[in-house]
Amino acid sequence: MNKENHSVTQKIVEKWGARKDCLIEVLHDVQEECNYLPREILTEVSEELEVPLSRIFEIATFYKGFSLKPRGRFWIEVCMGTACHVQGADIILEAFERELGIKVGEMDENMDFSLDVVRCVGCCGLAPVVTINRDIYGKFGPGQVSAIIEKYRSIPKKKVDIEKKYKEIKRKMKTENG
Ligand code: FES
Repeated sequence: MNKENHSVTQKIVEKWGARKDCLIEVLHDVQEECNYLPREILTEVSEELEVPLSRIFEIATFYKGFSLKPRGRFWIEVCMGTACHVQGADIILEAFERELGIKVGEMDENMDFSLDVVRCVGCCGLAPVVTINRDIYGKFGPGQVSAIIEKYRSIPKKKVDIEKKYKEIKRKMKTENG
C-alpha cells in the first residue's frame, strides 16, 4: 500500500473509532478525500473494521454518491429525466462535452471535472437541472456552461482537512443536541 493511501485510511479509521456501524461514514470520508474509493484503501478499511470486502463493494456500488473509479474534484451531472429532457438537457450535455473535451462517464485530464448523466434529481419544477457535487442549478441553459466551468475551475485545489472537518461535525452535533 502506498504511504499516502495508508495515512488516509489511518486518519479516517481513527476518526470513527474503527466501528463497523460507521462504515458508510468512513466511505464518505474516503470519497471526499480521494474523490473516489481506491481499492487499496477499501481493502485496508475491510481489515481495520473487520467487514468483508464484498460487503464494502456492495455498499460502494449501491450508493450513487460513491465511485470506484477516479473522479474529478467536481462531478457534473446533467439530469436527463423526462422533465429536463423536454427542456433541452441533451443540448446542455453536448455543451459540457464540447467545453470540457470529454464524453459522458469521462474525466478531464486535469482531474477537475467528471461528466455524467442522471435520471431525475427530484426537482423537476426547476428543469433543466444540472448538479455539480452538492450544488443544484435549475433553469440551466447551454449558454451558462463556460461560466460555470470557469467558476469551479478557479476554486483552488486543496486537500480536505479531515481533522478540521471532524471537529466541525462534532461542534455541530453538540449545538444541535444542546
Ligand atoms: S427530470 Fe430532471 S429533475 Fe426531475
